[in-house]
Amino acid sequence: MNRKRIAIFSGAGMSAESGISTFRDSNGLWDNYNVMQVAHIDSWCVNQSLMLQFYNERRQHLASVSPNKGHRIIAEWEKDFDVTVITQNIDNLHERAGSSHVIHLHGELTKACSSKGRDKKHIIDIGYNDILPGDLSVDGSQLRPFIVWFGEDVPEMGNATLAVSNANVIIIVGTSMQVYPAANLIHFAKANTAIYLIDPAEIPILPSANVEVIQEKASKGLALLKERFKSK
Ligand code: APR
Repeated sequence: MNRKRIAIFSGAGMSAESGISTFRDSNGLWDNYNVMQVAHIDSWCVNQSLMLQFYNERRQHLASVSPNKGHRIIAEWEKDFDVTVITQNIDNLHERAGSSHVIHLHGELTKACSSKGRDKKHIIDIGYNDILPGDLSVDGSQLRPFIVWFGEDVPEMGNATLAVSNANVIIIVGTSMQVYPAANLIHFAKANTAIYLIDPAEIPILPSANVEVIQEKASKGLALLKERFKSK
């Protein structure tokens, strides 16, 4: 019997209950940092040490936090469903909770790559260690965070689009749906796909008959769906 295919599309709100700041909530990251200075490819040529420090601080913080109940519910669903997690988050909390199929649209904080390009063979795992000016990739260029910055393409969009178009259920959790092309993913859902949107705030997305809004935090909303899926 084919197992139900669930695509989880997560954003920063997924990790909020683990103690990681979101971007656009009040006092979010973009209230405290200039996004153009720390997260845009054009800044890498002029602000390398500032950018390295910004991600070093986030990587150090990541070492001190843990997955929350919402991450664990998603990981446990792998026992009964084919689950693909498509996350905009650069943290590793889905993996640390036990999810085994995670697509990172915007990169991964615990990896680094060459400044000459995000060529797969030059990607290395750095765990929670800093990247400092002068740390070089194998190709001799300055090592950089393996993050998709504004102004760069999103190489994983193809895999993500496939997962969404194959899904029977899509759960959107903890994203303001304001950043593209990630926010376009919803348009690749098949017509009869059940879509749930979990967020404590009201998120204006395309009105679609299939979207059920659960206006709760991630762990509460996912727990409600866990009970709902059990009885099906
Ligand atoms: N549970 C669920 N959702 C929450 C919680 C929570 N505990 N707390 C906040 N949220 C919701 C907010 O209401 C908001 O809708 O999470 C969302 C966070 O939105 P953003 O801060 O915009 O984060 P995100 O949508 O992931 O941003 C997308 O923007 O800056 C880029 O690359 C960055 O990946 C990021 C992208």
